[in-house]
Amino acid sequence: MRNAYVYLMPKELTAAQAEKRIRSLIADIRHHDELYYSEDRPEITDHDYDLLFNELKALENQFPELVLPDSPTQRVGGEALDKFEKAKHRSPMLSLQNSFSEEDLLAFDQRIKKFLDDEKNIEYFCEPKLDGLAIELIYENGTLISALTRGDGTTGEVVTSNIKTIKTIPLKLKKAQYPIFEVRGEILILKQDFMSLNEAQQEKGKNTFANPRNAAAGTVRQLDPKISADRPLCMFSYAPGVIEGKTFKTQQHFIGSLADLKLPVLRSANITEIKKSLQSIRPTDKNFFKAPMTAICKNINEAIEYYRLLQEFRHNLPFEIDGVVIKVNEYTLQNQLGFVARSPRWAMAAKFEPEKATTVVSDIIVQVGRTGALTPVAIMEPVKVGGVTVSNATLHNQDEIDRKDVRIGDTVFVHRAGDVIPEIIEVNLSKRKKSSKPFKLPKTCPTCKETVVQPEGEVVLRCINPACPSVIREGLKHFVSRKAMNIDKLGDKIIEQFCDADLVKTYSDLYHIKKSDILNLERQGEKSAQNIIDSIEASKNPTLQRFIYSLGIRFVGEQTARILALRFGSIEGVVAASREELQDVNDIGPKVAESIVQTFTKKAFIREIEKLQKYGVHIQNPKRSTSVKNSLIKGKNIVITGTLPMERGAIKELILSHGGKSAGSVSKKTDYVLAGESSGSKLDKAQELGIPVLTWSDFEELIGK
Ligand code: IVH
Repeated sequence: MRNAYVYLMPKELTAAQAEKRIRSLIADIRHHDELYYSEDRPEITDHDYDLLFNELKALENQFPELVLPDSPTQRVGGEALDKFEKAKHRSPMLSLQNSFSEEDLLAFDQRIKKFLDDEKNIEYFCEPKLDGLAIELIYENGTLISALTRGDGTTGEVVTSNIKTIKTIPLKLKKAQYPIFEVRGEILILKQDFMSLNEAQQEKGKNTFANPRNAAAGTVRQLDPKISADRPLCMFSYAPGVIEGKTFKTQQHFIGSLADLKLPVLRSANITEIKKSLQSIRPTDKNFFKAPMTAICKNINEAIEYYRLLQEFRHNLPFEIDGVVIKVNEYTLQNQLGFVARSPRWAMAAKFEPEKATTVVSDIIVQVGRTGALTPVAIMEPVKVGGVTVSNATLHNQDEIDRKDVRIGDTVFVHRAGDVIPEIIEVNLSKRKKSSKPFKLPKTCPTCKETVVQPEGEVVLRCINPACPSVIREGLKHFVSRKAMNIDKLGDKIIEQFCDADLVKTYSDLYHIKKSDILNLERQGEKSAQNIIDSIEASKNPTLQRFIYSLGIRFVGEQTARILALRFGSIEGVVAASREELQDVNDIGPKVAESIVQTFTKKAFIREIEKLQKYGVHIQNPKRSTSVKNSLIKGKNIVITGTLPMERGAIKELILSHGGKSAGSVSKKTDYVLAGESSGSKLDKAQELGIPVLTWSDFEELIGK
């Protein structure tokens, strides 16, 4: 890593000097962006990059007239730069004809046979219709040179830098002999990643996404590739664009060749294998790509069977689909069949019944969460959607209620966003009662009646009364939850009983509770009371990270808790950390640091931690100093790549806490490369340089886990 620049204090500069410096900073930052995002070989550390960026921002603040429209500062937040470059597709990206029934599919097969004037069975290649964003990757002489969205089919947007952040997309093809190799596919976010992305968005106080498709599309169209890099995009390829230097006999052959070229594809099998595979796969399966999901079908009946199977098991898949695509397998037949209007005659999208249901909003209630946020929730007459009965749906905030104009008594359409979260799509206005009135959130907390506030820049209303019974109750539910103190016998209902009976007000009260107190409550017998006491007792030795997470500090989720634990080593260490020290930690920004500092300035909060310890909570600190002495990674340079069982920031902290170092790119100075699943160019580089590659379990062994 070289030192990239000389820092000049902005106030020392004249406007002319400032302009010169701004231009040079912009050029430098672009250069480093290119190295980082496109070539995966940064020359400077993230910290040095931030310094360059901050200097540019400081200068632009001082000389606002010198802010250039293409300055990298204008991309952050995605407001000022509102355009991607456009490019024409070599061959247009067309759409598919849709069908909604098995009869339509039989008719499709008949049409094909009639057109070809041949009664012989047609072989079909059947694929899931992936519900994401269509993309075209263009490789020239084996190098990925651009990625275009579908756009209007003729012209798409150039989103190359964002697409290059997807680790499973090769930047170079193994065989570079094709002058032009265009491949089309879908960009997706897996259901599970979507849930974690939304949790992380919430943790950061940002807006959540309605469904994985929106999240994927929003991410691909982010002007700042740093944001895409942080989000879990993936891709599956399914169709050729213009290809020079190779021809394919069948779709099956094409997909097989893509797999050989290490382009991401779904595996194929015959219909019997597919059935087994679909039955056994689970949406959270990390190895799902090993399970075949595309089928070679001997005739239309097998294709229809595939359609039925996918409809039945779609909820088992790790990504969302909205139907299946049935393609004539033979490319010579495809060519003979050609196109009608803007769709191929040789393919059909067989859509599933949209999983939408209609019901009535019987009430809108307002919940107060552990952070005091007021959340309106629509209570609906129970209705089945996607195999699950749904009876309530969050309406998020007042903006969302206004946008959809949902009112009590309305008839609404509901679906499950991301296949999981119930969501009201829209109101059936024709059924609205004349007497209905728009719903407004209250100006006072529905629980404690204190006036609510709307913090600047936020859409939510908050009750800021720390003694609000709802805030206390929800805080306790969080404290005892599985990922926190894990007091499994204290379910939500019991916490509510405890609160109603005034048995507990604070976390530490839980450790003070007596069996006789519990026996005084309704529906609590000797056995259940003893179970509760035992499970409270069993929670007394939490790890430091669990303990930090349990405290329910705003913006401190599991990941941040783990990082804090590793960096500061004890609760006293975290409490004593200054704003600057906190911000110095990987992944902790000013907002999170501020929230932590604010929390620990409250005397009552510190007293509460002391009380917990006094009542027997014994925090297990991560082993640090002893292990550093003997650590096998002490002084070693370790580069992390691929998907690993822990987040990047936490792994970096773990390495640091064992006396090691972690750099962003592989060089001769690297001692080890810690490689997870779908490791890309860094792993190649390590192998090239002969650097030892560690699996996760090798790494755990080295740090003595
Ligand atoms: S093949 C000539 N295969 O559906 C069309 N498309 O309506 C070639 N899609 O924009 C497309 N899964 O985004 C094909 N397995 C699949 C697909 C698929 C989803 C989408 C794609 C395209 C749209 C066509």
